[in-house]
Amino acid sequence: MSAHPGLFITLEGADGVGKSTQCTLLAERLQREGYNPVVTREPGGTEGADRIRELLLNPAQPDWSPMAELLLFCAARRDHCERRIQPALNAGQVVLCDRFHDSTEVYQSVAGGADVATTQLFHEHAIGLIPDVTIVLLLDPQLAAERSHARGADDCRFESRGDDFRSQVEQGYRTICEREPDRCFGVDASQSAAEVADQIWDIVEPCLKPKCNHPTSNASPTQPSA
Ligand code: TYD
Repeated sequence: MSAHPGLFITLEGADGVGKSTQCTLLAERLQREGYNPVVTREPGGTEGADRIRELLLNPAQPDWSPMAELLLFCAARRDHCERRIQPALNAGQVVLCDRFHDSTEVYQSVAGGADVATTQLFHEHAIGLIPDVTIVLLLDPQLAAERSHARGADDCRFESRGDDFRSQVEQGYRTICEREPDRCFGVDASQSAAEVADQIWDIVEPCLKPKCNHPTSNASPTQPSA
């Protein structure tokens, strides 16, 4: 069990699996249950990390070398953890983060080619924070590509890397779920949004009560910075 009194939840999955929708639904559910979650996303979440996000995701920016790309994600994450995630966890809050270190392992290493051991080492030394629970939305890569295409997201740098890249991303997530079954829970994203949300809640709810403050605040969930 982690040292902080809060609960750190991350949502993961390939592009097009419906992660953003589920993030919103989970944040709303947490709010209804009386928690006041900090809702954030990566890359980004602080002013500095949002600037790095622009460098990484805007197709007009230069094409980074794999190692430079990895370091940029780590730099953004360090700022995000130090300034936003860790203080909230220390204060006993629930933090819900759309993507975290598993995205880096999957996108930059498994699919992107950076050495997995190096990526894990960077995480251990530069970040050092592991989520308490990670929901991984799993979906056939072809279906995910169609959904992604339907929402017009093809021009994102990572969405446009092709079918092999997408398959490797999906496989990378499945490997992490097998490797860390106590933390990572795969959910079949081909179901309806309501069914997926119910399954996610069944996973998250038992983690909440033994661990977190239950601040019965009526404030809106803290939204990710744009
Ligand atoms: P975003 O527009 O936020 O999409 P999504 O809703 O799919 O999260 O884009 C984030 C992109 O950045 C996504 O394609 C995955 C990629 N990414 C990495 O490659 N490595 C990382 O460590 C993170 C956090 C994201």
